[in-house]
Amino acid sequence: VPAPRLDHHTLEKYENIWFLIASIMAVLLFVAVLASFFSGTYPSLTGEGGHHIEGVRNGRIDPRNFAGTPFAEPGVRENPDGTVEVFVVGKAYQFQPAVLRLPAGKPVTFHVTSADVLHGYYVEGTNINATAIPGQVSSFTTTFRRAGTRQVICNEYCGTGHQNMINRVIVEP
Ligand code: CUA
Repeated sequence: VPAPRLDHHTLEKYENIWFLIASIMAVLLFVAVLASFFSGTYPSLTGEGGHHIEGVRNGRIDPRNFAGTPFAEPGVRENPDGTVEVFVVGKAYQFQPAVLRLPAGKPVTFHVTSADVLHGYYVEGTNINATAIPGQVSSFTTTFRRAGTRQVICNEYCGTGHQNMINRVIVEP
């Protein structure tokens, strides 16, 4: 006795519907990932806090050669879209640039790396406390509320000159 069979065309119809649903979901997922990538809310894709840095891939950088990256000339960059970025290099026993002039009340994105050993990038009187790691870029965004001068202190023991590794951030009104 042959087993009862579902009509072949009915099965095909259900299969097509499920295939369509799966396809739509796959497309939606792809669009979502793409959209988050371009809006910069997908930091794990770049490892630079969602910011693209010229010459830096996945937050990795050659600590012996900054050529082709903004770290070759550390300092403040004002982008055409009005955002402010800062590139800082820790090097025994200085942070470069030695003096940073930054605007108050405006978000500033820091990118910090090291040219030799581990340094701690700590800005007195703020919650800025990043580790400068050779071969890696640490990125974060902060807004200075008040104008004034703050000391930058290395708070990671890095050698004989460690206690002298002090720089300044000048926040301008
Ligand atoms: Cu640099 Cu301690």
